[in-house]
Amino acid sequence: LVLGNLLNLKFDLVNFGKISYRKFEVKKINGVGQTKDGIDLYSKTDFLGMHKAGMLAAQILDEIGEFVYPGQSTEKIDEIIEDKVKQTGAKSATIGYRGYKHASCISVNHVVCHGIPSDKKLKDGDILNIDVTVIYEGWYGDTSRMFVAGSLNRKAERLIQVTHDALFKGIEAVKPGSTFGDIGYAIQEFVEKNRMSVVRDFCGHGLGRVFHAPPNVLHYGRPGTGAQLEEGMFFTIEPMVNLGRPETKLLSDGWTAVTRDKALSAQFEHSVGVTSQGCEIFTLSPKNIFHPTY
Ligand code: MF3
Ligand code: CO
Ligand code: CO
Repeated sequence: LVLGNLLNLKFDLVNFGKISYRKFEVKKINGVGQTKDGIDLYSKTDFLGMHKAGMLAAQILDEIGEFVYPGQSTEKIDEIIEDKVKQTGAKSATIGYRGYKHASCISVNHVVCHGIPSDKKLKDGDILNIDVTVIYEGWYGDTSRMFVAGSLNRKAERLIQVTHDALFKGIEAVKPGSTFGDIGYAIQEFVEKNRMSVVRDFCGHGLGRVFHAPPNVLHYGRPGTGAQLEEGMFFTIEPMVNLGRPETKLLSDGWTAVTRDKALSAQFEHSVGVTSQGCEIFTLSPKNIFHPTY
């Protein structure tokens, strides 16, 4: 989800208008309520819907790895993803979303997120994030992971490892009573301790019967700040971590975000639901291959 720098601010407000309108309709059908911060709360059976959608998205990522190699184009990878989405009986959430035309975002090397699949061929040593969101029986499953074309160099491997572990630091902070600031802090603290930086311009988001809903899940922050987590909240955590500086730049295609300093960037994303004890991860890899090297 895009977080407003000045350029994006107008867009964001318009978007929020839309989201709250759709959320209102959804609430009548499904929600079991809403917090004072306007975050939807879902029921135990809603968790099942999210597990199905999340599992399908994760399964597609499990199956796409064998198509990632030097010489392959990201357009071809996206085509295969689109086919797989159809085969599972799900729908792509991204095709037609704000004019986006593809079943995935594929972000190579210094692309931070929302990379558009293209005919450009992957080179040996390229690292890429593949982000897939499906809609199944009305539920959204949103997940992304890192892949490697060919051989992985040590610097890229360390970036990928730290980004993966940062996501799990965030997930470990998820339980009723903690705050969204606690999640952001856990991620930021870990990333900066490893002398890397957290992207500020994009964040995780609520999801469920809609793609993007409140809250904005920041990947940086201070403990005890922000809204409190409650059982029944659904949201993504999707930290983007840079080897260099955190600043991003939007390319003229209106989607592709890159690091300003052109240094490498990585991202992992899970969709989770808050339980009484902690959380359930909806997008766990069925084959347990969420990380490219283990
Ligand atoms: N899946 C992305 C996210 O994590 C959103 C992609 S929107 C698209 O929020 F239109 F760029 F595909
Ligand atoms: Co997301
Ligand atoms: Co995503």
